[in-house]
Amino acid sequence: MKVIVADEYEIMSREAAKIVAAEVRNKPDCIFALPTGGTVFGLYEELIRMHREEGLDFSGVSTFNLDEYIGLPPDHPSSYHYYMYERFFNHVNISRDRIRIPNALAEDPEGESVAYEWAIKRAGGIDLAVLGIGRNGHIGFNEPRTEFGSVTRPIYLAKRTIEANARFFGGDSDSVPRQAISMGIRTIMNSRRIVLLASGTEKSRAINQTVHGPVTDTVPSSVLQLHPDCTLILDKEAACELEPSANGFVPGSGTKTMVY
Ligand code: GLP
Repeated sequence: MKVIVADEYEIMSREAAKIVAAEVRNKPDCIFALPTGGTVFGLYEELIRMHREEGLDFSGVSTFNLDEYIGLPPDHPSSYHYYMYERFFNHVNISRDRIRIPNALAEDPEGESVAYEWAIKRAGGIDLAVLGIGRNGHIGFNEPRTEFGSVTRPIYLAKRTIEANARFFGGDSDSVPRQAISMGIRTIMNSRRIVLLASGTEKSRAINQTVHGPVTDTVPSSVLQLHPDCTLILDKEAACELEPSANGFVPGSGTKTMVY
């Protein structure tokens, strides 16, 4: 597992954007899994800048979002649909018919999940999955004790996740939906490449467990140790509990790279 530690949040966001941009340039019809959450605000801003100033072309790209809250209409300001269009899709030249986000209003969430999983397969699988991480090590909305063999399905949010995400619902945890549709651990692990971003000391324990801990379903992100091409991009605060690696090097420009 490769770990890039950036001196600041902005540098972390730029490093992640460089990887996404390289993927788009190398394979203009590439397929992404995309995350939401506060950590990736800077990544989307930098990608929009690259599109405007450097002509980064998203016209052939397809995207599958990791998850969506069940019951929130797409125009609800706290829905992940709303987030994605406001923060990214409306500002780049991505084709609307290549954007997929789980339909949270589906009458049959199980059926919607199966169709979503099939759509990923039919598209040829995910080239690059970009992930955030929950304080409890969740990836997507795969909470502790999710089976590693899980695929896209309806899930219940952990209490800790509801509390952490209340800030996107005006601070009111009662307004946070209790269920979501999420890609599974296996769906994510099947991606050819994975990049995970984390920022802030509240993520440092989960990051320590992701890198150094045993691979266990009590910390879902620990499964990433088993992926052949996984990079964590962290700010200093999120990396503060990591042991230094023997083969670390400093390529400059405010980052340090380590391999575990
Ligand atoms: C939500 C999302 C996750 C995301 C996590 C981290 O729970 N479902 O995909 O990784 O939040 O969010 P933040 O970056 O706001 O800490």
